[in-house]
Amino acid sequence: MKQVTASAPGKIILFGEHFVVKGTRSIASAISRRVYVSITETDSRYIRIISPEAGLDSVIDPETLKPGDPMLAPLASMLEYIRDTLGYRIIPVTIRVKSELPIGAGLGSSAAFSAAFARAFLAFIGEEDSLELVRKISIVGETRAHGKPSGIDTAMAIEGGTIIYKRGENPLKISLSLPEGYSLIVANTGVERSTREVVEFVLGRADKMVKVSSLLYEAADRLIDLALRAFKSGDMELLGELMDVNQGLLYSMGASSGVIERLLWAARKNGALGAKLTGAGWGGSIIVLVEETLSSVIKKVLVDEGALDVFEVSLGEPGVRVEE
Ligand code: PMV
Repeated sequence: MKQVTASAPGKIILFGEHFVVKGTRSIASAISRRVYVSITETDSRYIRIISPEAGLDSVIDPETLKPGDPMLAPLASMLEYIRDTLGYRIIPVTIRVKSELPIGAGLGSSAAFSAAFARAFLAFIGEEDSLELVRKISIVGETRAHGKPSGIDTAMAIEGGTIIYKRGENPLKISLSLPEGYSLIVANTGVERSTREVVEFVLGRADKMVKVSSLLYEAADRLIDLALRAFKSGDMELLGELMDVNQGLLYSMGASSGVIERLLWAARKNGALGAKLTGAGWGGSIIVLVEETLSSVIKKVLVDEGALDVFEVSLGEPGVRVEE
């Protein structure tokens, strides 16, 4: 039976989320956790989607493309685009999704799903070497999921690596790594939220006080230069401080929350060099920069404070790919 599997990485935003929506720069990196999508031939007349991590086993009628579950709306939009704009025929298949990323946690799980699905689908119908098509299809899925995405999650899922991202420009690939002896910890607050709602709230606040917010947006953009310099010189104390400053700006714009601040402060009190939310905020995930010797202690502190999925990540992982 014909089967194709593709995968795409999750991401963390190291600096500049939210500000990026209005055109400032941000730094993002693909992480070592991925979403896998397998497409298999079927005798059924329906497209069946099974995702154990999302607790989903539902169908889409390939004729009407009406999703059997609201969670499938981004997939239905991608299928509609594939049929109506790209002109491919939609046939019944079984789609299995395996996510190593917590869902709705600011780690780009929906963009990774969209990219992996688009890549797997195109490979399944024999359309090879088509990253541009993968990008077009994925953006349709992300727009349905998030409203006004800056495109950073999609760029990350497709390109992988580490990028400086500015809306409307091609992502600039850069090479960044932590010096020996330092680790980056990701912790999921366990609080799910809608990226769309947080983005709308932040944009609303920005509009309400343009004279102040424009300075904060400019500060967020300037932080990028300092962060790149800190990475280059291996100055992790400075990098940690810059993460704290970026968090202060996000707090000012209303993207933080009590749970996030509690976890950030628990990490800082126990010796973290710096910590911030990553992604949309109001929950989701945080990132914490630590000396490796303190990593186990701080991971335990975060778990004791109620965080889920506390893990170390490596940066610059590969983008979307077909799995053998
Ligand atoms: O929470 P996530 O993974 O969807 O990341 C959102 C990043 C934002 O900058 C808040 C929004 C965007 O579209 O860039």
